[in-house]
Amino acid sequence: MVAGAAQRVRGQVGEGGVAVHGHDQVRLGQNAAQDVHDAETAYIGADLRDTTAILAQASQTLDLGQPVALMFLMTLQYIPDADDPHAIVREYLDGLVPGSFLVVSDTTNEVRDPVITEGTRRMNEGMGGRVTQTRRTSAQVGRFFEGLDMVEPGLTSTHRWRPGPDEPDTDSDWPVRCGVARKP
Ligand SMILES: C[S@@+](CC[C@H](N)C(=O)[O-])C[C@H]1O[C@@H](n2cnc3c(N)ncnc32)[C@H](O)[C@@H]1O
Repeated sequence: MVAGAAQRVRGQVGEGGVAVHGHDQVRLGQNAAQDVHDAETAYIGADLRDTTAILAQASQTLDLGQPVALMFLMTLQYIPDADDPHAIVREYLDGLVPGSFLVVSDTTNEVRDPVITEGTRRMNEGMGGRVTQTRRTSAQVGRFFEGLDMVEPGLTSTHRWRPGPDEPDTDSDWPVRCGVARKP
C-alpha cells in the first residue's frame, strides 16, 4: 500500500498493491488510473488523512489478514504537525497484522542546504497554503517507527540505506531520511 505515489505508481506497488493519491491526482489522469487498476492493483484518489475510508477500500484489493507493506514515500512531509501525522500512521498500522512492514522516507531539516530551504519556502508560498511541506528532524521521522522492529541499518540518509555498489557519494549527508520496520 503506497501513499502519495505519482508517475511511478505501477513501479511502486509492483504486482499487487494499492496506491493512494492526493492533490496531484489530476496529473495522474484517468487513463493512468485505469492502467493501475486490475485484480491485484488498485488506485484510490483520496487524502491519506482519511484512514478509515482508505483502509476499507484497500481491503477490497488486499487481504489485510496477511502482512502487507505500508509505504509513505516522500509524502508525510505534506501532513502538517497540526494534523498529527504520527497518529495517522498509527491508525494504518493498527489495521495491519503482525509481520507487516512500514517504510517511510521524508525530508529532514537537519541538513542545511540553502537551495532546499529556499525551494521549500517558495513551494509553500506558491501552494497558497493548500499544501505545505514540513521538514522534520531525524527524531521526528524516527517516531513513525515507534513500537516496531527497525530493519538494519535503521533510520538513515536515504542513499545510505543498503547502498548498491554504484551509489554515489555515501559520505555526504542528504536531506532525506528513510527507514523500514516490521510490526512485531
Ligand atoms: C514528492 S511526491 C512523492 C511521490 C512518490 N511517493 C515518490 O516517491 O515518487 C509527494 C506526493 O504526496 C502526495 N500527497 C501529498 N499530500 C497528500 C495527502 N494529504 N494525501 C495523499 N497524498 C498526498 C502527492 O499527491 C504526491 O504524489
